Parts: sequence; C-alpha cells; structure tokens
Amino acid sequence: MSEKVYPVYPEIAAGAHIDSAKYEAMYEQSVNDTDAFWGEHGKRIDWFKPYTKVKNTTFDPHNVDIRWFEDGTLNAAYNCLDRHLETRGDQVAIIWEGDDPSESENITYRQLHERVCKFANALKGQGVEQGDVVTLYMPMIPEAAIAMLACARIGAVHSVVFGGFSPEALAARVEGANSKVVVTSNYSLRGGKVVPLKENVDKALEHAGAAACCQSVIVVKRVDQDVAWDGARDKWYEDLVADASADCPATELDAEAPLFILYTSGSTGAPKGLKHTTGGYMVYASMTHEYVFDYKEGDVYWCTADVGWVTGHSYIVYGPLANGATTLMFEGVPSYPDNSRFGRVIEKHKVNQFYTAPTAIRALMQQGEDVLGDADLSSLRILGSVGEPINPEAWEWYHRIIGDEKCPIVDTWWQTETGGVMIVPLPGATAAKPGSATRPFFGVQPALFDNEGKALEGATDGNLVITDSWPSQARSIWGDHERFIQTYFSTFKGVYTTGDGARRDEDGYYWITGRVDDVINVSGHRMGTAEVESALVAHPAVAEAAVVGYPHDVKGQGIYVYVTLQAGFEQSDELMKELRNHVRGEIGPIASPDLIQFAPGMPKTRSGKIMRRILRKIAEDDFGALGDTSTLADPTVVDDLIENRMNRK
Ligand code: PRX
Repeated sequence: MSEKVYPVYPEIAAGAHIDSAKYEAMYEQSVNDTDAFWGEHGKRIDWFKPYTKVKNTTFDPHNVDIRWFEDGTLNAAYNCLDRHLETRGDQVAIIWEGDDPSESENITYRQLHERVCKFANALKGQGVEQGDVVTLYMPMIPEAAIAMLACARIGAVHSVVFGGFSPEALAARVEGANSKVVVTSNYSLRGGKVVPLKENVDKALEHAGAAACCQSVIVVKRVDQDVAWDGARDKWYEDLVADASADCPATELDAEAPLFILYTSGSTGAPKGLKHTTGGYMVYASMTHEYVFDYKEGDVYWCTADVGWVTGHSYIVYGPLANGATTLMFEGVPSYPDNSRFGRVIEKHKVNQFYTAPTAIRALMQQGEDVLGDADLSSLRILGSVGEPINPEAWEWYHRIIGDEKCPIVDTWWQTETGGVMIVPLPGATAAKPGSATRPFFGVQPALFDNEGKALEGATDGNLVITDSWPSQARSIWGDHERFIQTYFSTFKGVYTTGDGARRDEDGYYWITGRVDDVINVSGHRMGTAEVESALVAHPAVAEAAVVGYPHDVKGQGIYVYVTLQAGFEQSDELMKELRNHVRGEIGPIASPDLIQFAPGMPKTRSGKIMRRILRKIAEDDFGALGDTSTLADPTVVDDLIENRMNRK
C-alpha cells in the first residue's frame, strides 16, 4: 500500500463546492441530524408535491423496509429536462461522440426534451403503462438515454441490459423482469466492428419465457444494413417517433415509485435485479455528481462507462442531467482508431471532468507514456476512478500522464446496490492517498465488522458494512424481497453488508481490499463465479467446474477455470476453445475464461466441499502457502493441480 499523501490543491479548494471545513461540518450533521440534513438537501431537485417525511427505514432482518421522502411526488425525467428549459434550453445536454471520430452530435436540453417526449408517447402507443418494465439492450447512442428518460417520464421501469451480454443472459433478464417491450438497435458499432444486437434479441426471444412477456421490439436503425424482421412484433424506432406527438406531460409519481431495475451478479444463484426508486435516488445521484466531481456551470463532464452498468445510470444520465450539466456519451472504445482516442475526445470537447475505470488506465499505461499522442489535455480539472481498487502505480500514472499533476483524483467506491458514490475523496476537501477511496460521502456510515459481527475500532481490517440507510440505496430485489434480505441484511444483523473487505488506517481512510465472497471483478465487471461454473457444467464434456479469480495486469482479476471432464472426453486445445466459446455464448464475452486447467479431480473435503482457498492459491501461482491440506479427501490431487497450473510467473 502506498503511504504517499497528496494534499488538496489550494487552487481547487479555493473554488470548490466543498472544502475541508465544510466537509467536516456537513458530514457531522448528515449522520447526527439525518432528517434535517436530507430534509434540506432533498430540495435540490423539484418536487410536484413536497415531502413532509424524510427518512423511514429499518434494516431489521424480519422486515427490511427503506423509504425516503415517502410522501413527496416527483418525476425523474422532469428533473432532468423540463426544469432546465427556461434557464438552459439551448445549452448542450448530451455531447455524443460516435465510434467513428468523424461522427458526433450535440443535443440541447430543448431537443432532448422533445425527443424524450416523442419516444415516451411512442412507448404509450405500444401499450406501455405506469409500472410496466421496458428492457433496453442498446449501444451507447443518444437513444439509450432518451429511452431511459422516456420510461421515467411515464412511470415505466427500465431495465438496461449491457449490450455485451449474450442472448441467453438477455432472455433471463427479460423474463425475470416480465418485460413488455425490448428496445434495441439493428446493429451496434464498436471499434469499427458491427455487432448484431437485434439478432441477439431475436435469439433471446426464442426462449418461451421471454417471448411470453415481450410483446414488441423497438429497433433503432444505427447501421444502414438489413436485419431479419418479425412484422407483428418489430417496429422501427424512427417510424414510431415520426408519428408521435411531442407533447407528453411528466407523470406525477410517488417518491418510492420504481425508477429502474438493474441486474447484477452475486455470489450465488442467477443475477438479481436490484430495484431503485425515484426520489432518494435522484437526490443522491445529483448531489454526488455535483460534489464528487466539483461540477460547475459550463463544465463538460465525461464518464466513459456504459449505460448498461450503474455508473452509466447515475453518472452519465440521471446525476448530470438533473444538475443541468453537459454530459458526454461515447459510443466507441479507447483503442479505436488508435490508443490516443481518449486524449482526442478530451481535446475535441474540452472535457473538464474525466471519469473512467482502472482497467482502462492500466491498458493505456501498457502502451507507454506518449500513448495519448500530442492531445491537449489542459481542459481537465478532476479525474475519477470507479469499479475496482486502483493500484497505486496506475493512480500515479493517471495523475501524472493524464492529470499533469494538477488534477485531484476521486477514487469512488460504490456498488449497483448503493445507487451512488459512497466512499470518496472530495476534490477540495480530502487529501488523497493513492489506492484509498478515503472517507465517506455525506450520510454514509461505514464500519468494519469481524466475521462474528463485532464492530472493530481504529486502524484495522474487516468486512465493510454500512450501518444506516442513505437515500439512493436499492430498495429490494425485483420480485424477491426475501432474497434481498438474505443477501444484504442477514450475515450481520442491523446493517447493510457490502460483500467487500476493507482496511481502515490511522487517519480513518478506507482502503477497499476486494470482495470477500465468490464474486470476482474482471475489468471492473462484476461476475459471480457460480454463474460461470453453471455455464460450464451445461457443456456435455464438463463433469465439474470451479472458477476463481487471479491477479491480472490489465483486467485487475482474470477468470481461472478448473474443469473435470466427463468420462469419454479428452482434454485438448480444441476443447479448451470450445469451452471458452460456450461461456461467451451463455453469458457474454466479458465472462470469457482467461485460463482453463483440465483437472482430474478437485480438492475436496471429506464431506465433498471444494476447497476454493486452495484453487485460488494455485491460480495465483502461490502454492507455497496452501495452508493445511490434511482435511482433503485425496491430498494427491493438489500435486497434479500444481504441476499443471496455467499461471506461471
Ligand atoms: O468490489 C467493489 C468494486 O466493485 C463492486 C461493485 O460492483 P458493481 O455493482 O458492478 O458497481 C461498480 C460501479 C460502482 C464493489 O463491491 N468497486 C467499485 N468501485 C470500487 C471498487 N473497489 C475498490 N475501489 C473502488 N473505487
């Protein structure tokens, strides 16, 4: 761990929304006088009917119930659009930068408002009503944000599924959410390659469960190429909006009306759809966006995430637009047309805040210090990091090469479940330590518990929990509140369990050490090892599979697979390739195994439980420290595993 400290830059602190004195005072109030604090800050967004109650939450495992601002009414799209029309109608809301550098588009608040209203009416025309779920399987094009906001406008609930997921994964999510409509594009463009999104939707809807609920598929024409068409089910987006009225009043919704579902992986079972609601989420997303990135009027803000992840929801769409910001949406990849692309985009649009993932920084780092060419990065003021722990080397490189040693880096720790940033250094308030997410945002009360559930004091390591609710917390798992309670509120009673481990140092700074459960983080993408295992055992050649993470230079963690074959199957390079393709087909390319080891047997206890600790150590090439193997049913399997290990340093 780096012990280096980077003090707050005085010139940043001088103009910042929050300096250190303000941070201390506001934090203190936020946790000691919660109702007064959020009662005041809740007013940062527009309410149709103001709330009189602020917080009404319990983490009691018999009855987890989370409500914020519950008697207020509002509309998220109204907050992102209508309320800006008078003051900033002609300001750019979305800068869209296409995959091809010659393609970009500026969309003003007025234009965005009109496009959202039209599509909202188009959705109504397809029978979508308040409370219905609409699945979005979209590339990073303006229509993705438009569709999200159009759902919000009429009280429909969007469920965005990352465009890199396979038809199988999409089908499970359409069915799981009982989604009435899917919005997609005919193709998507990434790094100059054409990806058949609509074909994936067609395949997903061959599954009876998905087909039973989905009545129509709305298709944006992104690429001028033909696509298979079901005349009864499929509609062109362009045709629907051409006929739609631009008049669509925003529906008045309860604060606790669902805004979106977002599927994410856990340590067991199928991915779960986290339910986020409207009022608390909007308050927290907009407030964190403003303070974490020190967003000021006129700034151009760029978050490189995909709208398929929570980062895209809170920090491309809802937070920035609620604040009347100019948010940049990038369709492409950092390596196309060449590795200087991020620099070119920053220069072209004079980006002030740049928010990306450690994996992207490490990939650039590998290309050398001049990777961004002669791109002028002088517009940058704040840099952000998200999705996984940032190693101090990558932090230093980011600071020096991209930030020219003048931009604070905000290392933002949070989760799909938390809705917004939870632990983070505020640019004008918190001295940074490379690799530490530092201190909690307002209203967030982290604590470290030992495995028995005892709160630990002072500088120590432990399980990271949050002891009380914050406004943008997920309210439930869609259709399975019991699983919500089991997953997050039963390991330790009375607190929210994050699933992450952390260290707290002498200054009260938090250092996230990674997941303590069977979830791995591959290039910032969260993956359940159980999901990959169940994809593998669905292949006829596989008798048993165990998946663990191992340290990977660029991805943070790579996917290491141990496979025991069924009798009659021989290990071969061919089969390895086939298994890799099989997992890609079942889940998507992001789940593609990096290393596959054929193992004649797994290390199991006498009761038949796989000792994953041993598999993790071998995958890390750290087999000198296997610990006690005497309880294994057959200790000799370990020798074979070591001898044939795939990761040799
Ligand atoms: O392990 C933590 C890691 O990513 C997990 C959450 O993943 P997801 O729900 O996909 O959300 C990612 C974007 C918010 C966490 O449990 N994680 C996220 N940000 C950080 C992080 N680990 C360390 N430092 C971070 N800044």
